Amino acid sequence: MQRVLLSDLTSGMITAEDVFSMDNQLIVPKGIALTENLIARLFSFDLFSIKIEDEILTSSLENFSETSYAEKLKASPDYLAFKEEFKDNLDKLEFSLNALVEKNKDFDPHSLLSDTIGLIENRETHNTGMMDMILNMHDFDDCTYTHSLNVALICNILAGWLRFSPAEKELATACGLFHDVGKLQIPAEIMKKPGKLTPAEYQIIKTHPLESYKLLSRYELPDEVKNAALMHHERCDGSGYPYGFTYDKINRFARLVAVADVYEAMTSSRTYRDALSPFNAITYFENDGLQKYDPEFLLPFLENIVNTFLNQKVRLTNGLEGRIIYVNPVALSKPTVKVGDRFLDLKEIGNVDIEKIV
Ligand SMILES: [Fe+2]
Ligand SMILES: [Fe+2]
Repeated sequence: MQRVLLSDLTSGMITAEDVFSMDNQLIVPKGIALTENLIARLFSFDLFSIKIEDEILTSSLENFSETSYAEKLKASPDYLAFKEEFKDNLDKLEFSLNALVEKNKDFDPHSLLSDTIGLIENRETHNTGMMDMILNMHDFDDCTYTHSLNVALICNILAGWLRFSPAEKELATACGLFHDVGKLQIPAEIMKKPGKLTPAEYQIIKTHPLESYKLLSRYELPDEVKNAALMHHERCDGSGYPYGFTYDKINRFARLVAVADVYEAMTSSRTYRDALSPFNAITYFENDGLQKYDPEFLLPFLENIVNTFLNQKVRLTNGLEGRIIYVNPVALSKPTVKVGDRFLDLKEIGNVDIEKIV
């Protein structure tokens, strides 16, 4: 152990004792590998020097080159089989949804639905493993078809976690599968525009729930499927569109699709895809979600997702790596992580988060 001047600190040095401010606020606990951000934070507390372990953290840096969780998953036979079937399903979905939009007779919602359910049920892989596989399907493309199929599968898994009856589970899957069909009518220049949308373009995007509803209304489909399409962007606090409905007026299945839809969209964005870490999405839902989404669906969803990662190896934003050993039900994005012999309760340590699953 040695005392090091703040000006001599470098990333990777490990704190040898809890570091407190002058007014006794814990700034950095013992055993944390310093990052540039943490060092900057220490400076802001007018400290002169802190105690540092003799060894600089290198082990976690070495681990960076190990086979990652995502790579291991992608090499598994289960994943490869699922990917093949997913691709076949996607081709069929694309053909069939285009038929729906072009108003010809090849749209067969019932066969699409049974194929989708076949993709997920009767598989050996447990639902929790399925969620990881789904998030990796964006290797194909981030288009409406992949998104729709993913949302359908997530709705199916969520309905299973919620112990829906088989009929309701099938209905939930159908609601996910067809919720965004109206997007296929929106010009590709707007849908695929890389930059920020203009207000006028955003208004056009916002027509897709009603367009979906109109397209689906021409078929013999349950009202829930049509209403989930119409209302999946409504939010319980009235902040959604197209009508600004609040909780009571939003169809129950639309409230369920909303959770699956937003989670899929967030975890498939480039920022999260490599990391395969849903913890950012969970943080968002915890901070912002309870007013907007139905807690009856949102809370079991988040809890099951986080439990998927129990015992998984994770990298923390302070550079340390460890395993998630306890999920705190009132702070799902802040589990307890075992790092070496130490237990880090991320809820207690305010400034450390899970960066990724490794
Ligand atoms: Fe949508
Ligand atoms: Fe969507």
